[in-house]
Amino acid sequence: MSNYHIKHLEEYYQVYRKSVREPENFWAEVAEEHFMWRKRWNTVLNWDFEKPEIKWFEGAQLNITENCIDRHLRTKGNQTAIIFEPNSPEDEAEHITYQQLHDRVCQMANVLKDKGIKKGDRVCIYLPMIPELAIALLACARIGAIHSVVFAGFSSKALASRINDSSCKMVITSDGSYRGSKTIDLKGIVDESLELCTTVEHVLVVNRIDSEITMKSGRDVWLQPLLDKASTICEPEIMNAEDPLFILYTSGSTGKPKGMVHTTGGYMVYTAYTFKNVFQYKDGDVYWCTADIGWITGHSYIVYGPLANGATTVMFEGVPQYPDFGRFWQIVEKHKVNQFYTAPTAIRALGKQNISFVENCDLSSLKVLGSVGEPINEEAWHWYNDNIGKHKSPIVDTWWQTETGGIMITPIPYVTPTKPTYATLPFPGIQPALLDEEGQELKGNQVDGRLCIKFPWPSIARTIWGDHQRYKDTYFSAFNGMYFTGDGALRDEVGYYRITGRVDDVIIVSGHNLGTAPIEDAINEHPAVAESAIVGFPHDVKGNALYGYVMLKETGESRDQNNLRNEINQLIKDRVGAIAKLDKIQFTEGLPKTRSGKIMRRILRKIASKDLSNLGDTSTLLNPECVQVIIDESL
Ligand code: WTA
Repeated sequence: MSNYHIKHLEEYYQVYRKSVREPENFWAEVAEEHFMWRKRWNTVLNWDFEKPEIKWFEGAQLNITENCIDRHLRTKGNQTAIIFEPNSPEDEAEHITYQQLHDRVCQMANVLKDKGIKKGDRVCIYLPMIPELAIALLACARIGAIHSVVFAGFSSKALASRINDSSCKMVITSDGSYRGSKTIDLKGIVDESLELCTTVEHVLVVNRIDSEITMKSGRDVWLQPLLDKASTICEPEIMNAEDPLFILYTSGSTGKPKGMVHTTGGYMVYTAYTFKNVFQYKDGDVYWCTADIGWITGHSYIVYGPLANGATTVMFEGVPQYPDFGRFWQIVEKHKVNQFYTAPTAIRALGKQNISFVENCDLSSLKVLGSVGEPINEEAWHWYNDNIGKHKSPIVDTWWQTETGGIMITPIPYVTPTKPTYATLPFPGIQPALLDEEGQELKGNQVDGRLCIKFPWPSIARTIWGDHQRYKDTYFSAFNGMYFTGDGALRDEVGYYRITGRVDDVIIVSGHNLGTAPIEDAINEHPAVAESAIVGFPHDVKGNALYGYVMLKETGESRDQNNLRNEINQLIKDRVGAIAKLDKIQFTEGLPKTRSGKIMRRILRKIASKDLSNLGDTSTLLNPECVQVIIDESL
């Protein structure tokens, strides 16, 4: 029996039960039937959550690009692999066939080799959403180099810290990028960051916006002339299943981002299998995920998952509001998109616009709608269902994380009955558990607690680059023998899961994970600032916005507060990136602290949300008197 494609609910339960009772047989069957291995594995799974150590398909050999490209060439060489929709609707879309993708990936791989990149070297990719971005990932994978994509909205400092953390030898970037009506000087940002880096030997530059840039001789070179000369044949490097495929940084509760390491075999199997089922992708469909490849969603569900299934995947360079708020729907109509995957923050922003933007477009091609990145609120869910899905296209609310590599809890469309704001049921192979604060597992339904996973799945991140201890501390120490997600969740009366949000110091703003620590560190660099604390508060488009409580060094000082606010936000923009700017800044004379000196964010969060009804017991604080002062100042 093939478990690869689940088509009805009974089959889901059957497959799910098998995946829990005999996980190894289950995954071996999926892996065996649907992928191309150069050598079969010796063991399906070796794991120990105490160490922690997780190995899938040990002994197997493969190259993921053979699975994503070469094996489709015979039957789908002329089928479109990637549809590139540029920033401006005036510019023509580009259709890249599987054969063309093969040739371009090989050419880029040969350029990387020429520049001395070898198996295991780290290559930083800092590019806008243009075809070269997807091609660069695949070119690295072709030769066994480890890609580390940094979202091209991060600042030069953030880029530098990521380049340094994994000692990248090369950066692939572009002269600049288009963003709606603006352009962004990406090469300038790279130049600034490289002042702080010593390991980068070469910078390859894509010409995207034809801008005047400085090229440092011996280091920087335009990519296109090299590609033009390169051979379209590049033998794939044979990789072990557990060789690293990529590093992707995500925020943590300390200042330093965590370089999550994903490996080759398990990641491929899991992203491909989830893609097939979660989107019910059928040959000939056109699939569009609006994420940026700079995030895990783009890695797994624009590039690897779709291409491993021989799908047609859309890459959109632009933004939802340019040239107007109808852009997404015009793209759906233009390319006859069948599966559309986006984030709640985009749904909320688009839901606020005149409905004619939607009504002017023919959305009848749509079959499945997806949501990812943060909890989708009831109103946004209904707007999506009523206006975009028109009650015909099921919404898959997919819960997962950078660390999990692929979708973990989700409805399967046309299979799992959906319920607004619920991610519903675990995907086959996923064994969730809810725990109370004492670490007791909450059995049965109608419970809520901290969301953990009891058993490994093939695409779990294997470590944090250069810091295995932190990997252990962050994910495997809170609850004995389980992977802790950092999220809270509830299980309803039928066993459906609803994710309630982060229970740690990570705040999700417009679907982007932001750690409070690096933002506070940036604020504290301001000479006038003594201390600060960041919390999230509800925002009707972004989901959460950031609220900063800032204590100044000299309280009597009469500085212009608006100037200070601007300076603080400028610092945040430079150190972290524009996405981390604060919506509100409250200057305060004290921050509530526990006796051990920790800032009580719980109280600050309530004040920021104007929820003063139940502040809890403040008498145990070191400085309980400051709470009322902060409340009064906030009004
Ligand atoms: C949140 C994105 C509720 C969650 C793929 C998680 C969600 C964090 C959902 C990971 C969802 C993601 N419902 N919350 N459907 N999807 N999250 O690493 O808090 O960027 O831990 O991965 O986003 O964000 P990340």
